[in-house]
Amino acid sequence: MLTQRLQFNRMCIAALVVATLAPIALLAQTARSPVAPRRELVESVVREAYDKFKGDTNGKNADYIPYLAKVDSKMFGIAIVTTDNQVLTLGDVNYSFSIQSISKVFTLALAMEELGPDKVFEKVGSEPTGRAFNSPLAVVDMPTHTGNPFVNAGAIATTSLISGKDAQEKWKRILDFYSKAAGEQLTLIDEVYKSEAATNTGNKALSMLLAKYDRIYADPFESVDIYTKQCSVGVNAIQLARMGAMLANNGVNPATNAQVINSDYIPHILSTMALAGLYDGSGGWAWHVGLPAKSGVGGGIVAIAPGKGAIAVFAPPLDEAGNSVKAQEVIEYVARKLNYNLYSPTSVGLK
Ligand code: DON
Repeated sequence: MLTQRLQFNRMCIAALVVATLAPIALLAQTARSPVAPRRELVESVVREAYDKFKGDTNGKNADYIPYLAKVDSKMFGIAIVTTDNQVLTLGDVNYSFSIQSISKVFTLALAMEELGPDKVFEKVGSEPTGRAFNSPLAVVDMPTHTGNPFVNAGAIATTSLISGKDAQEKWKRILDFYSKAAGEQLTLIDEVYKSEAATNTGNKALSMLLAKYDRIYADPFESVDIYTKQCSVGVNAIQLARMGAMLANNGVNPATNAQVINSDYIPHILSTMALAGLYDGSGGWAWHVGLPAKSGVGGGIVAIAPGKGAIAVFAPPLDEAGNSVKAQEVIEYVARKLNYNLYSPTSVGLK
């Protein structure tokens, strides 16, 4: 009788332990990266998106930078890196394309590391312009005369904030920081730099306009030149996704574990990406996708699912606003299927 009761008690305790610990184990797994337990699902959704949009021929390569017009417009790659550094890839993920405006996210981060967020906000602002990314009218119209760090004017102003005794030192600081964000050494694509440097009269005009309003903080043409170099840094889709995963992971690169950006600054970066990451396409993007993202005229877009990871897509043809057509389609599809929309309570498990 006594033995039976002891056995029964032991069973009860065992059941209790299992009931208590199982959800904790599950939680520990999901807390690390909610993507992790769903790898097969993520893989099949990425494959669906790739097959669905591969044949889309809408959009056109950027051609105001002559080099970009010559890039193979059929290239198409998708990479996801999670906050626990799982990597999923499909298509042309090893081709090194120019980061272009996606660089602006990381120069903003570096400026905050150097000056703190209040100074950067005061000097550059964070208001969507509702105009094209290279609009001089936005500089004139905006009360801050820069708009935000992601339109060309605001980005050139942000680059002008980076410290260094000369242009070479400032550029090195920027490239080193991008490399730390990627977790590996990145390099300049010299041909892209030369191609843009020979044709960037519009950006030089913006820098002079900023000077008129005292909204550039170093020599205007030197700042445009460093900015042109930062836009010409080469990344492949995996490197870009890892830079995004670092943002998703509170500033810690998931491959190297280095704290690249102070975690307090991440909300400033992600909120600016949500408001202005796709320029005058940002409202539609928020409506349909609901993730902070940044595009570049090289054909890349990276979108961040905070706490989970990042998806980077490379496909050169762009829409009118300068955003990759296929990259937008893929990210929208994947984000919807995997419930990543930040504005939806289902993204944190509420049914
Ligand atoms: O300054 C420019 O025009 C280019 N280097 C970057 C513009 C860009 O990537 C806009 N993005 N969609």
